[in-house]
Amino acid sequence: MVMQKGFTIWFTGLSGAGKTTLSNLLHHRLQERGVTNVEVLDGDVVRTHLSKGLGFTKEDRDTNIRRIGWVAHLLTKHKVPNLVSAISPYREVRDEVRMMVEHSGGKGSFIEVFVDCPVCECEKRDVKGLYAKARKGELKQFTGIDDPYEEPHRPEVHIRTNEATPDEGVEMIINHLKTHGLI
Ligand code: ADX
Repeated sequence: MVMQKGFTIWFTGLSGAGKTTLSNLLHHRLQERGVTNVEVLDGDVVRTHLSKGLGFTKEDRDTNIRRIGWVAHLLTKHKVPNLVSAISPYREVRDEVRMMVEHSGGKGSFIEVFVDCPVCECEKRDVKGLYAKARKGELKQFTGIDDPYEEPHRPEVHIRTNEATPDEGVEMIINHLKTHGLI
């Protein structure tokens, strides 16, 4: 058997765009293929542990992303494929994390997946009811409403979740992993 390589799949996009859905489905698909030592880091969950107490200012979001990136780089270093989903709205800190991961996992070990969905569509879905709160002004600094989201310039994978099904989106990632010899 070929030795499993470490890599970080970094899902970035608005709240409600589909990051967690894609991450969970990819996790299943990888397990089916025999890649069983996968770790999942979800923004919402991380914020109840590692990043508990952090808010949503630029400074706090950057701290959150650096912490997740630090864990991702350790996992990648030890050849544990890891799936991260966090809005991660700022390009600069995403690129910083990319460098950290690639430093330990090698070039190509950081796969940025842009989970692209128009804000109006995320708002329509509003699974957690947070967009409605943000529109009423009950929630400040909400990404896409009154806080910025900087789109990736050259993501390794670009999934438009209002056009592709979750299965199709995951297939795009699997193809990327196969093409680059990561699975
Ligand atoms: S990040 O900006 O630091 O990457 P992260 O992904 O960890 O964000 O957390 C985002 C989640 O926190 C959202 O899915 C949503 O459930 C919740 N949330 C609460 N307040 C905000 C806000 N002001 N902006 C965005 N998401 C928020």
